[in-house]
Amino acid sequence: MNAPHAAATATTPLTPGETVGMGRILPASPLAQPKPDRPHVVEFTDVTKTYNAGRANAFTAIRDVSFTVEDVHGKGEFVCVLGPSGCGKSTVLRLIAGLPPQHPATSGEVLLLGNSVTRPGADRGMVFQDYTSFDNRTVLDNVAFGLECQGVPRRERYELAREWIAHVGLNTKTDAGKYPHELSGGMRQRVAIARTLILRPRIILMDEPFGALDPQTRMNMQDLLITLWREVEATVFFVTHSIEEAVFLGDRVYIFSAAPGTLLEQLRIEPADRPAQLMQREPRFVDTVCYIRDRIAQLEVEAGGR
Ligand SMILES: Nc1ncnc2c1ncn2[C@@H]1O[C@H](COP(=O)(O)OP(=O)(O)OP(=O)(O)O)[C@@H](O)[C@H]1O
Ligand SMILES: [Mg+2]
Repeated sequence: MNAPHAAATATTPLTPGETVGMGRILPASPLAQPKPDRPHVVEFTDVTKTYNAGRANAFTAIRDVSFTVEDVHGKGEFVCVLGPSGCGKSTVLRLIAGLPPQHPATSGEVLLLGNSVTRPGADRGMVFQDYTSFDNRTVLDNVAFGLECQGVPRRERYELAREWIAHVGLNTKTDAGKYPHELSGGMRQRVAIARTLILRPRIILMDEPFGALDPQTRMNMQDLLITLWREVEATVFFVTHSIEEAVFLGDRVYIFSAAPGTLLEQLRIEPADRPAQLMQREPRFVDTVCYIRDRIAQLEVEAGGR
């Protein structure tokens, strides 16, 4: 299926079609394709975002970013976004979310299922690094919050919230009545995931959701996320600084350059078929991680020389 394995060193970037470990290089920009039967889930065309445009402190965070995420029937794609701090990863995510001041883009087009993004919507759910639950609500009320906003009757929303509390590995008896300050970091992220997934969004936007967790908890959360994602069949955009996390979770990995961020390289990654702890020690996994690490280091050197 794949082109033969090619040796990768920092000085020999691979070309589209070549493979390294469990990754295959894709063209950085979408190739001209015939119009798809169904619109893409997400489509960026030459998207540029300049903050404070027209003022002395104008700053271009991303420039001419183009990519498409296809509507894979019955299974959303898991897209991981890597790149140096400040390269515009959160900007990309918030443009998809339709959240100001990132939204609207300064130029270019952001389409979701063929329509321009105009505002946030229930079709998109976000999970951030800093825990986003309400301090004055219990776990049960936090998880049920979105349904409450939608006017779902109390009994029904609590029933569903209890199901999701169990789904994310929390205890419906002992944890449901706790407040966020009574939870560990890992438990709080479980609540954040349950709050988002209970609404069954078409697109899940995650901005370094596991960045504050210890390595073991982080791997447990990665395994949980893969299980839940297969169930909800959503497209996931997942920003991380961890290359291991991106290679484990991602069907696709985007590598962005330093600001103004541009999409420099895309890899397709074989799906995770074992727990994170096992996958992450496999030589083919390590090959892919090392290749990406070398590429990012090299890109940073090149950017420093500009
Ligand atoms: N509201 C804003 N006004 C002005 N500049 C902004 C604003 N939001 C972000 N920026 C700038 O845009 C650039 C990209 O920011 P962004 O938050 O998208 O980066 P990032 O890749 O998510 O970084 P990190 O990995 O550190 O989270 C940064 O230089 C940042 O200072
Ligand atoms: Mg960010």
